[in-house]
Amino acid sequence: MRDEFDEPQPTASETAPAEELLASEAPAVLLPQVPAGIQLLNRDFLTDVANIPDGSIDLILCDPPYGLGKDYGNDSDMRSGDDFLAWTRGWLELAIPKLKPSGSLYIFCTWQYAPEIFSFLKTKLVMINEIIWDRRVPSMGGTTRRFTSVHDNIGFFAVSKDYYFDLDPVRIPYDAATKKARSRKLFEGSKWLELGYNPKDVWSVSRLHRQHAERVDHPTQKPLEIVERMVLASCPKGGRVLDPFMGSGTTAVACARQQREFVGYEINESYCAIARERVSAAAAAPAGRAPVKARAQRQPEVQ
Ligand SMILES: C[S@@+](CC[C@H](N)C(=O)[O-])C[C@H]1O[C@@H](n2cnc3c(N)ncnc32)[C@H](O)[C@@H]1O
Repeated sequence: MRDEFDEPQPTASETAPAEELLASEAPAVLLPQVPAGIQLLNRDFLTDVANIPDGSIDLILCDPPYGLGKDYGNDSDMRSGDDFLAWTRGWLELAIPKLKPSGSLYIFCTWQYAPEIFSFLKTKLVMINEIIWDRRVPSMGGTTRRFTSVHDNIGFFAVSKDYYFDLDPVRIPYDAATKKARSRKLFEGSKWLELGYNPKDVWSVSRLHRQHAERVDHPTQKPLEIVERMVLASCPKGGRVLDPFMGSGTTAVACARQQREFVGYEINESYCAIARERVSAAAAAPAGRAPVKARAQRQPEVQ
């Protein structure tokens, strides 16, 4: 495991002229550059978290191992039952003090463990929402002894009732037909009719199947659309986001695109390299436009 992913890389002008180099001293391959303010750390969150000052983070966005035995190139998802829950409580205890008084936390989890995780978090924070991510998995047979599960549970918590929250950048525009249908005098001048509607707490966004334009080589990569919504609503511009389990760097990409600072941890070196490439591409893309590998296939939202 390496821990220098956040170190500045030498620029071409800092490397020695080619003619002065012996064949064995060929210049190291330059890593893709990431913007200042984005830290991608190839380190273990639990052993490194002490380096983050308490009260310095606006938003913790965590998508941890779910305790379902996924292969992340390590054994981090091999815990289950009480062992998994004790581990989850342990890292949450370490993360929560990093939040500012106006800060908030989103945690992805599954129905198997959401009740225990949410009960625990309610002893530390104020629960704001449970968001259901409907992954839009198509019906293809499968289970016959219960209903097919197509959702992830996302807990949204805040340090206090005075948490930062900005709905306007994440409102969903009404289509022309709906606007027309609501053109009666009663609705005239309504801010919400012009700005769009609140996304509500069921988010219907396709999971990233293997052929999806946004998909990279990570087994549980989350859609940028979901993560970016959380960043826009719950971290002010210029604020700081912490992702303890960054995987392929989806939260980092959202932060680079939306001018938020970011610090993220990942123990798998290959995933860190993917994150670095994605952030670099996002930073190079024209403003407001998702880079090719990170362009979501927009789905019509269920109202
Ligand atoms: C569910 S995935 C995150 C996926 C990510 N949200 C994305 O969109 O790509 C969880 C990640 O946590 C990493 N991980 C597990 N234990 C860790 C630890 N102690 N510190 C840092 N990363 C860890 C795993 O290697 C895995 O890539």
